[in-house]
Formats: sequence, C-alpha cells, structure tokens
Amino acid sequence: MPLCPLVAPLEPCRAVLHTVCHGQTLCARASARHIPPRFATVLRPRRGVSTCATAGVPLLGSITPERTHMLREGLNKLQVSAGFDEVAATYDAMVSLNPGYRRHLQLAAESLLSHVHTQKPVLLDLGCGSGLSTAALLAAARRRGMDPTIVGVDASGGMLEQAQRRGFDDTVSFRHGRAEQLSDLDLPPADGVLACYLLRNVTDVDATLRAIQTQLRTRATFVAQDYSVADSESSRRRWTAVNQTIILPLASVIARNRDLYEYLHRSVDDFMGVQELAQRIIAAGFATVESRSVGGWQHGILHLVRGTKPLG
Ligand SMILES: C[S@@+](CC[C@H](N)C(=O)[O-])C[C@H]1O[C@@H](n2cnc3c(N)ncnc32)[C@H](O)[C@@H]1O
Repeated sequence: MPLCPLVAPLEPCRAVLHTVCHGQTLCARASARHIPPRFATVLRPRRGVSTCATAGVPLLGSITPERTHMLREGLNKLQVSAGFDEVAATYDAMVSLNPGYRRHLQLAAESLLSHVHTQKPVLLDLGCGSGLSTAALLAAARRRGMDPTIVGVDASGGMLEQAQRRGFDDTVSFRHGRAEQLSDLDLPPADGVLACYLLRNVTDVDATLRAIQTQLRTRATFVAQDYSVADSESSRRRWTAVNQTIILPLASVIARNRDLYEYLHRSVDDFMGVQELAQRIIAAGFATVESRSVGGWQHGILHLVRGTKPLG
C-alpha cells in the first residue's frame, strides 16, 4: 500500500486512487488538503472506497506556500485524467450538445491530412479521449483514399474504454499513456500527430511538444486544436458567458461532474495565447507554424495550430 507523505508519512494509505505529483504519492484526501474544495471533488474516490487511513492528521508544517502552489498546479493537471475517468461515460453526450464539436474535429483532421503525403500513413491521436477525434481522423484519411495506421493515446483509462467500445477495425489501436512521455510507448515514427483539446491539460506543454516533434518523421505535421482566449479580451468574455450560462449548468445535469467542467473552463482562462503557443512550438524544434481560428461564436476562442518538422 502506498504512503501519502504529506498526510500520513509513516502509515500506509488504503485509498484506491493515488497520484504521483512532484515525487510525492498522494491520495484524494491528502490532495484535498492542498487544493481548494472545488477541485477536491474531482479527486473524489468512488463511493465505498476507503480514503486516507489517517484523515485527521494535520498538515505537515514543512509545506511552504511555494510548494503548496507547485503541488496545486501539478495536481490540477495530473488529476485531470481521474476526472476524465469519472465523466467518460457521459463525455459523448456532453459534447454532442456542442453543435460544432464534430465539425471542428473534422476540420482539425483535414488540416492535418492535407499535409500528409503518403498513402499508408502512421497517425497518432494524442489525448484521443472517447475516440471522437480518432473517428474523425480515420474518416478523413479514408475520404482521401488512404490506408492509415492510427494509434490513439490517452492518460485516462476510462476514456480509452469508451474509445475501444466504438468498435474500430484493426486500423486503429489505443495506448494508455501520457503525452509528455510519448517515447515510453515505443510507437513507430509518425507521419502526422493530431492533438484535439489536449495541450492545455498536459503538465508540461514544452515537454509534450518536444515529445511530439521527436515522434514525427522529418517534414511531418502536427495539428493541435484547442481553446485559447489569452490574446483577446472579447473572446475571454464570450467564453465566460457561454460557460456560465450553458456549459456548467449542463455539466451538472448530464455529467454530474461540474468540477471537471469548471476545471476545463479555468484551464482555458489560464492557457497561453496562440502567439505564445506558436513560439513554443518553434522552440520545440518545428520549422514552421501557422494558426487559424474557426467560424461562428467560437471564432477567436477555438484555434487550430499546425507545425511542421524540419527536413533534418
Ligand atoms: C477534452 S478530451 C478530448 C478528447 C478527444 N481528443 C476529443 O477531441 O474528443 C481531452 C483528453 O485528453 C486526455 N489527457 C489529458 N491530459 C493528458 C496527458 N497528459 N496525456 C495524454 N492524455 C491526456 C484526457 O484524459 C482526455 O481524454
């Protein structure tokens, strides 16, 4: 049984869900002591599961404000996969209420494949979730007469279970893993990488971009699709209004996990602007980067960013 060093440095903890954060192994109860209550429920272990054996033990005095901040930031991101596990079964229902969702996935898949010039490409769908983006990628490849090999990668076992239920043929396979540690999965070099709604969730954007760059063949392409409002105050206001009036109320009813969707809302607020993302893509070793936004009410909120790996 793991130890939760921040709460129970000497006693083993019986909680099922543990997260390693900055070298510390924490259960939900231990985590909840370092993060505001609205995040804590994202970490909630399933009903009937015992939590930290020494729940009453006070916080250790050695935690500095800087360390607490670091833990909170890391936990928010690391616990996201646990949050996605919880909403996996309702994820498709939630996004089906967003009329543009599938269309935008299609757009991202097309944007990637328009830069893939082989008939039998190896394609990665990073943060594939319940497989919606994987399905969009497969459909786009088939429309172009390609015979692809597609690997979906996700950190959430629950989301991957949903993806597997989609009944893809053996063109598509799935791997459980973190985008930051892509090289651990020993995947073949990729002709294209798609990452829809992933980057703002990863613990280390730069490490993820470098991992993607390394995984790509020379001259191959990476497309990220994500929300970002940092470059425009009016986009930020529109994003906040839609979240407060539509997304969060629906999340409470359908997903019964308002906390994750609150996290997702905040993660967009906190995410870097597209200009900074483009600079970081170049810093990760891509030769070119271009971006565009979608139409409709998500204009200036949802962006497509495409990077190409240099010749050699
Ligand atoms: C908003 S969903 C998007 C799913 C899918 N791409 C789509 O467009 O429908 C984000 C996914 O990223 C996954 N994720 C978050 N952080 C991750 C990481 N560090 N590595 C791999 N997957 C991650 C989550 O588990 C979740 O399934």
